[in-house]
Amino acid sequence: MSKTTNYDVKDMKLAGEGKRRILWADGDMPVLAMIRERFAKEKPLQGRRMSACLHVTAETANLARTLKAGGADLLLCASNPLSTQDDVAASLVKDFGIKVYAVRAENRKTYYDHIASACKHRPTVTMDDGADLVNALHTDMSRYADDIVASMEETTTGVIRLRAMEKNGILKFPVIAVNDADTKHLFDNRYGTGQSSLDGVIRATDFLLAGKKVVVVGYGWCGRGVSARAKGAGANVIICEVDPVRALEAVMDGFSVMPIAAAAAVGDLFITVTGDINVIDTPHFRKMKDGAIVCNSGHFNVELNLVGLKKAAKKINRGVRNLVDEYVMPGNRRIYILAEGRLVNLACAEGHPASVMDMSFATQALASEYAIKQAGKLSVAVHPVPARIDSWVAKLKLKTMDVKIDSLTAEQKKYLASSDMGT
Ligand SMILES: NC(=O)c1ccc[n+]([C@@H]2O[C@H](COP(=O)([O-])OP(=O)(O)OC[C@H]3O[C@@H](n4cnc5c(N)ncnc54)[C@H](O)[C@@H]3O)[C@@H](O)[C@H]2O)c1
Repeated sequence: MSKTTNYDVKDMKLAGEGKRRILWADGDMPVLAMIRERFAKEKPLQGRRMSACLHVTAETANLARTLKAGGADLLLCASNPLSTQDDVAASLVKDFGIKVYAVRAENRKTYYDHIASACKHRPTVTMDDGADLVNALHTDMSRYADDIVASMEETTTGVIRLRAMEKNGILKFPVIAVNDADTKHLFDNRYGTGQSSLDGVIRATDFLLAGKKVVVVGYGWCGRGVSARAKGAGANVIICEVDPVRALEAVMDGFSVMPIAAAAAVGDLFITVTGDINVIDTPHFRKMKDGAIVCNSGHFNVELNLVGLKKAAKKINRGVRNLVDEYVMPGNRRIYILAEGRLVNLACAEGHPASVMDMSFATQALASEYAIKQAGKLSVAVHPVPARIDSWVAKLKLKTMDVKIDSLTAEQKKYLASSDMGT
């Protein structure tokens, strides 16, 4: 492992392959590339120390290049111990001059040491995927939080944590909820998580979806995406929900809906995407069929009660395939857990396709520029991304896809802004 004050990555010899993968992803990220070109000329982030705690993937590398082109002094650390692509991390250091602290499969101590390095970088702007960095800056590392003007948050779970901090009166600096921008969650969470979670399951297990019972726990943005794609591949999809409106939506989208206690006994594959804790609990594991495959694509691995499963199992055979652990239950029923319950799409596959991350990271880059322009003016709260950024990113994405749309005529604009015309 190469270790200096500027980086901690697995092996610098992996940089060549990492660079190839970063440039391949770049080919599918045209909106971000346009922003990078403008940033290189205008330098809107000049002189800003930035720390980003994100999944270290080829797509994130292109965001990092964009922030650097804008003049940021960027440090990147991992937002999950199993999502780092070591070749990408090496290339970011060697080819793109970015400080990276991320090693795939790092233990808890190293994970938090890397977050500490991100704090010691004394950032003025931070970026998070899950709020672990912001959380450190509010607890053990709070002495490094004084200069922060704003923070960007990439995912649903992070936004939930930050809103809780705001509500409890402990939030110290303004946050922009990038996840809540339409150009993020409508596409990344739905189409990105939808496709890449199934990709992760297939790569890890060689699972055939056609004809299987696939249980999706949570029918939010990610759950809708996973379910639609599993259905398209011929699976019989069962949805478990706690929100009656979302459950109703799932029923009318044509899915079976039932409680997890009932679904547990019939599912062949289980995917959790709730952002909640112990949604598959020990009693559910006890009911599962021999050969059931269980994974999580929500942010934290707490969605599966693996502590309870471990206690209930007679035996655990680790690594029966790469990233697959076999839990042998009483009666010799076998349950397969993928990637220790960590994000299956990032641990077992490559995360979201670059084309969808193009929008998420274009929105991230523009939100950072906005936050810096607004430095000192934003209140200490969780703020939305301005609607004009969403609209700009969507317009450009359509343009790069060669899709043209209509625009309102003067008469239509007037009509839509008035109330006098009726039947
Ligand atoms: N794998 C990835 O790359 C990726 C990408 C985006 C988001 N995420 C994460 O996925 C999770 C879900 O995100 P989202 O945007 O879909 O959130 P969301 O809020 O839109 O949906 C979550 C759904 O889960 C339901 N739910 C909560 N507790 C439940 C329970 N006990 N049983 C059944 N349903 C329950 C909620 O009612 C809600 O409908 C979050 O942790 C988010 O951070 C992961």
